[in-house]
Amino acid sequence: MSQKTWGGRFSGGTDSRVEAFTESISFDKRLYRHDIQGSQAHARMLAEVGMLTAQEAEQIVRALDDIGADIDAGKMEYKISLEDIHTHIERALIAKLGDTGRKLHTGRSRNDQVVTDLKLWTRDAIDELDSLLTELQRSFVESAERERGVILPGYTHLQRAQPVLAAHYFLAYAEKFQRDRERLADCRKRVNVLPLGAAALAGTSLPIDRESVRAKLAFDSVARNSLDVSSDRDFALEFVFCLSLVAAHLSGWAEEWVIWSTTEFNFLELPDAFCTGSSIMPHKKNPDVLELTRGKTGRVIGALQQLFLLVKGLPLAYNRDLQEDKTALFDAFDTVQGCVAVAAPLVSQTKLRREVIAARIEDGFLDATTLMEALIARGVPMRSAHEVVGNLVRECEQRKCRLADLPAELFPAPEVKAALGVANSLAAFRSYGSTAPAEVERQLGEWKERLK
Ligand code: ARG
Repeated sequence: MSQKTWGGRFSGGTDSRVEAFTESISFDKRLYRHDIQGSQAHARMLAEVGMLTAQEAEQIVRALDDIGADIDAGKMEYKISLEDIHTHIERALIAKLGDTGRKLHTGRSRNDQVVTDLKLWTRDAIDELDSLLTELQRSFVESAERERGVILPGYTHLQRAQPVLAAHYFLAYAEKFQRDRERLADCRKRVNVLPLGAAALAGTSLPIDRESVRAKLAFDSVARNSLDVSSDRDFALEFVFCLSLVAAHLSGWAEEWVIWSTTEFNFLELPDAFCTGSSIMPHKKNPDVLELTRGKTGRVIGALQQLFLLVKGLPLAYNRDLQEDKTALFDAFDTVQGCVAVAAPLVSQTKLRREVIAARIEDGFLDATTLMEALIARGVPMRSAHEVVGNLVRECEQRKCRLADLPAELFPAPEVKAALGVANSLAAFRSYGSTAPAEVERQLGEWKERLK
């Protein structure tokens, strides 16, 4: 008898070049736990509906546990002639149980099986990433707490703009990763719909109970249309989109910290353990972790493009093209997981160079906008106030001084000079979500509570 699960229809063997070309075992073997989990639920359901005896189902469940333990122990011998992980496990089951093993695939196809495995895997991946992102948020919140009193220059266009509290700065990243977590949680809802029972594409004439399988595998609901199931990879695209956005957030942050760790900026003391040196220049301390984080982002966004191109021209229902989903999905996840896992300790162990920051904090007219607002508060129309302060800044450029150094008579109302200087400027903020000290303090408290 053929080793192939589909050998009956074929008179000769498969060309070895085709076997090498069509195999997926080299990358889908990592689905084995999920494949076993799905098969055990399926076997138990088959017993409930009378397609297997209770004893047969028990034998199958136990044999699958043993196969899982063998794979854990590195004892499964992978062969490209057996195509994929689903076939390897089924063959191993048949080798153990004979005819009982031959009954497992009743009312099931690899088409619904592979989506089920992939959804179970994606669900775990989402949960794991959520924990890692929570750790990363904790690192930002810890830094916010540790550096709360420090005033940083806030930038737009990478030009000095307005002062911000360091705590406000660190909490901005906590917000971005919060949205990423919420997006993942939303994506999980679409992941958590059971495909199994769609069979090849049209369902089955056998009396399967999909609701029972749903409950066993903790899916929220059962996919309604079997034809849709075998072609649906929306969940994989959505997940990789979520991953791409996490990667983009990390990449922007990494770029910022690469810049902040230059001699020119010198805002950060990166931990030695997260930097590397140069083989020729003895003084170098390079931010390779940050650079690789920025660089690896390209792979993740590339994986998203790959998946879009994969699905864009596929007719219903299953097409073998879909086997190519896994390399993109796995690589995107592994890459982001690696980036987030290393970002969290890097953030916790990085310190602001407070003296360097403080020494230059009065440069760059960070207080100009507050001065304008002080004039507005005294009844000067906004556009006029903007022009007045613009003229004062031009005067400072000529005199090579700061706004606070200008003589009081140059100001339309001399008392607005009290708004000048970065500390006064910062203390003047008051709006919701602003860098106002009381507002930042309140939000810091909320974050600590949220991430407890
Ligand atoms: N290895 C395949 C995949 O990953 C299994 C799916 C079913 N194969 C098939 N010829 N119907 O997509």
